[in-house]
Amino acid sequence: MQLIAGNWKMHGRLASVAVIEALVAAGPIKGAQLLVCPPATLLAHFAAVVRGSHVRLGGQDCHPKTDGAFTGDISAAMLADAGASYVIVGHSERRLGHGELDPLVRAKAVAAQAAGLTPIVCVGETLAEREAGTTLAVVDRQLEGALPEAGPMVVAYEPVWAIGTGRTPTPAEVAEVHAFIASKVPERTAILYGGSVNPGNAAALLAVPHVSGALVGGASLAAADFLAIARAASAAAEVEAGS
Ligand code: PGA
Repeated sequence: MQLIAGNWKMHGRLASVAVIEALVAAGPIKGAQLLVCPPATLLAHFAAVVRGSHVRLGGQDCHPKTDGAFTGDISAAMLADAGASYVIVGHSERRLGHGELDPLVRAKAVAAQAAGLTPIVCVGETLAEREAGTTLAVVDRQLEGALPEAGPMVVAYEPVWAIGTGRTPTPAEVAEVHAFIASKVPERTAILYGGSVNPGNAAALLAVPHVSGALVGGASLAAADFLAIARAASAAAEVEAGS
């Protein structure tokens, strides 16, 4: 089963429920689990639409504490209460834009698990790090520092230079990093690829060994594109099952 996760980032309004309705109406896609991570303001609204369906919801970030005097923050327990079953932690936009470091990312992931959510822990190198040949060392450091010791988790490999740029690593480059991550995480941990995934490149990226899904930004905002990526995942899952 491939996990196709949509990261809506700071996009979406109440009316965007039409996208969720279209995903629900399309019905289950064999071999692909659909997950949408909208802004927290929309979670409860969308939860009413996906209830009982094949579509899951997630948050985009959470605070390590359950409740408290933390103005503007949202806890994992609150996300769960609003209908989430996953939460993204350590996205590069949080790491770079909000100064989040690995120990905080790990604390968020552990808090997510405690709230019954599966954390999607993001790792990935910057362009300078890739050009310096330090990609695996950077990913290794992030895994060591940010992953919880055990429990349900998903890892997302997102090269920072591939996010929102239309550029992607080659399948061979993705294969190298995913094989490395697979050697470091508990067996059967899903490892997603993220960064400029679209309907045109999804089949090639999802067919790479140790790629068990995608974290999709821009292309998750339109139901047709997101469904096309999920169908590519379904085809990749079939090939995998047959091999
Ligand atoms: P993108 O974003 O698909 O728009 O590149 C991916 C992400 O940041 O998760």
